[in-house]
Amino acid sequence: MKLLTRRGLLKGFIAIAGLAAYSRHAVSAVLTPRATEGPFYPDTSMRFADVDNDLIKVSGAVEQAGGEIIRITGKLMSKQGKPLAGHRIEIWQCDVNGKYLHPNDNSKVSYDNGFQGFGHDIADGNGNYSFKTIKPTIYPGRAPHIHVKVLDGDRELLTTQFYIAGNKLNSTDGLYRRMSVEQAQGVSMVFIERNNMLETNIDVVI
Ligand SMILES: [Fe+2]
Repeated sequence: MKLLTRRGLLKGFIAIAGLAAYSRHAVSAVLTPRATEGPFYPDTSMRFADVDNDLIKVSGAVEQAGGEIIRITGKLMSKQGKPLAGHRIEIWQCDVNGKYLHPNDNSKVSYDNGFQGFGHDIADGNGNYSFKTIKPTIYPGRAPHIHVKVLDGDRELLTTQFYIAGNKLNSTDGLYRRMSVEQAQGVSMVFIERNNMLETNIDVVI
């Protein structure tokens, strides 16, 4: 009978410990809940020429967007925690007055041309993305929210929405209420003030 060497045992132990740590991580990552795209996703033809990840500055526009500036950062990752490097993340939302950059938004207010309304970023090698935009404001019948889409090339992987943690309208929002507490936590923006700007971190797990 072959006896296990001390080194063999140690290797086995490390492998098991590693597996346990790996599964713990996998279990802790709650999948980002899916949500409807809504009626105002701007097609390419509806967007400004500027579609970068800074939505408060439109190139060529004199005025900066109205509203409270925020920075959103986070990671795009698989449920095993693998970074989704090179994936595209898009956001779109209404301007400070609740108007979308979309011809079908019939609200009477005029659109804030200093607000980009739509932007995208490409996740870096570690899956990191970031946006500068405005804190979402009121929109009739909804809690404040930001629409989010993640794509791998042309393939859409996820459409979801981000909310403001603790906003009083969340509890009356049909889409928000459909989520479990854990899911809602995963898409709720908690803000901290840094360098005179509100910052929040949301990881997107697909
Ligand atoms: Fe919306």
